[in-house]
Amino acid sequence: MISRSPIILALLVAATAAWAEPNAAQKIIFDQFAAQAKSGDPAFKGFSAERGRDFFLGQHTGGKPDTASCTSCHTKDLTKPGQTRAGKAIEPMAASVNPKRFTDAAEVEKWFRRNCGDVLGRECTLTEKGDVLAFLLSQ
Ligand code: HEC
Repeated sequence: MISRSPIILALLVAATAAWAEPNAAQKIIFDQFAAQAKSGDPAFKGFSAERGRDFFLGQHTGGKPDTASCTSCHTKDLTKPGQTRAGKAIEPMAASVNPKRFTDAAEVEKWFRRNCGDVLGRECTLTEKGDVLAFLLSQ
């Protein structure tokens, strides 16, 4: 049994890679978020795509009433284009169909700041941002 575990591990890693593998630029950005979290909290255990899903799909208060959710503009099907309040198309958020997503750190921060302001009336925390990225990179 013990001798087989490296094979099982290798299969697991291969399966995960086939499911969703962030590209190099996405990985750098995600790793930067994780490094920041780790430096703020040595006990940091990693971001959660599960929490990110709840946050991204959930309803919030504190922001503008017509944008109570990230899905107000980005829609619930992240592989499909979204729409701004003014009706301008937004490219899909899912990394699997839009590899250009989350490849420019300044862009990522700029839009987190703006969108979290619209939805929550405040900036997102580092944990919220990392969780959302973990979720969107898995989509
Ligand atoms: C009022 C409409 C609107 C809402 C609500 C909204 N977004 Fe956005 N979001 C946009 C637009 C417009 C862009 C920039 C255009 C683009 O990247 O296609 C964007 C871009 C982003 C980006 C940058 C993606 C990249 O490729 O770098 C992130 C991250 C993001 N949004 C996260 C969120 C999160 C998290 C929420 C909920 C807290 C949210 N957005 C809610 C309109 C919105």
